Amino acid sequence: MHITLIAGARPNFVKISPIIHAIQAHNAVSSEQVNYALVHTGQHYDRQMSDSFFEDLNIPAPDVNLNVGSHSHAEQTARIMVAFEKYLTTNATDCVLVVGDVNSTMACAIVAKKMNIKVVHVEGGLRSGDMTMPEEVNRLVTDAISDYFFTTSEIANGHLRREGVSEDRILLVGNTMIDSLVNSLGKVKKPMAVEGIDLADYYLLTLHRPSNVDEQAQLLLLLSTIDELANGRKVIFPIHPRTTAQLGDKSLYKNIVFVTPLPYLEFLYLMKGASAVITDSGGIQEETTFLKVPCLTLRENTERPETIEIGSNELIGMDMNALAIAMAKIQSQQWKSSAIPPLWDGKASQRIVAKLVELWG
Ligand code: UD1
Repeated sequence: MHITLIAGARPNFVKISPIIHAIQAHNAVSSEQVNYALVHTGQHYDRQMSDSFFEDLNIPAPDVNLNVGSHSHAEQTARIMVAFEKYLTTNATDCVLVVGDVNSTMACAIVAKKMNIKVVHVEGGLRSGDMTMPEEVNRLVTDAISDYFFTTSEIANGHLRREGVSEDRILLVGNTMIDSLVNSLGKVKKPMAVEGIDLADYYLLTLHRPSNVDEQAQLLLLLSTIDELANGRKVIFPIHPRTTAQLGDKSLYKNIVFVTPLPYLEFLYLMKGASAVITDSGGIQEETTFLKVPCLTLRENTERPETIEIGSNELIGMDMNALAIAMAKIQSQQWKSSAIPPLWDGKASQRIVAKLVELWG
C-alpha cells in the first residue's frame, strides 16, 4: 500500500512524527510494506516553527515541500490546494492521511477527495461549537469528506456518529500528540533562554489564537493581568510569530520573560516543570493533562472537553476574575486532582498503522 502523509504547521509535526515511526517499525518486521510519502505544505516555514521540530522529533526530510508560506486564509488554502493537486497528479497513492485542524489539513483533504483518493483524518470528531475559530471550520469540512476517522476520545466519536458517520469508519485510537510526548520525555532539554532564571516555581504562557492576540488592547490587558497575578513568580512566554507584532513595550512587565518560539524538547522541559501553564492552544491542553500539570485555558470553549472533565485543564475564558481565582488556587496548591484519558498511552500510532494495513494492506 502507499499512503501520503500531510504536515503543514507546528502541531502537525508533533502528531505526524510517531505515525512515521510506527510505519517504520511495522516495515522492519512485516512482509506487508507500507510505502509512504511525507508532504510538507510549508504553512509554517521558519526554523523555529518547522525545521527544529523535524530535528527534535526525528522526522525524515519531507519528500516534497509545497512552500506555500503565510497568506490570508483563502490564499493560503488555495495555494496549498493548487500545489497539492499537481503533486498528486504525478504521485499516485492509496490514501491521504491528514492530522489536526489547520488550513493544510482541510486543503489537502479536499484535493484528495476530489481526486477520488481515500482520506483518513487523525484527530477527527473534535468540535468546539465555535464557528468564529478557523480551526472549527477546518474540522467540520475535513470530517464531512473523510473516509476514516482515528479519534482521541469517545466524545469525538459521539460527534461523528451524530453527524451520520457509520461505526465502521470510526476508530478510537488515543492521541498521537501524546505518543510524541511519551517518546520524548526522556530527552527534554533546558532552554538556553532561561539560563539564570529561578525555575523553582514558574508559569509557562503561550498565546496565539487570533481572538486573543489580533486585538492589541485585549492582548495587553491579558499580559498585564498575568504579570500582576504571578505575584513575583516568573512567567516564561515563548512568543508565537503571530503574537510578536502586537506586543508593544516588553519592559512594562516585571515577571514575564519573553523568549522566541522554542524547539519541541525545550518547550517540553518547561511544560513538565511548570507550576501551571496558561495557554490558548489546543494541543497544550492535552499535553498538560497527560503530565498532570494544571492548565488554565484562556478560551471560552474547548474542542477537548475530556481535558477538563478528566484532566488538569480548566476553562478561564477572558474572565480576569476567574484567572485570579485559578492562579490563587495554584499558588496555594489546591488545584483539582486529575487523570489521563483512556488510550492516551503512547501507542495510538501503532493502532493507526495496524488499521491502515487492515484497510489497504
Ligand atoms: C496555525 C493554525 C493553528 C495552530 C497554529 C500553531 C490554521 C488556521 N491555524 O495558526 O490552528 O494552532 O498554526 O502554531 O491553520 N509565521 C511566521 N513563521 C512561520 C509561520 C507563520 O512568522 O513559520 C507568521 C506569519 O506572519 C503568519 C502568522 O505567523 O501570518 C500566522 O501563521 P498561520 O500559519 O497563518 O497561522 P497560525 O496563527 O500560526
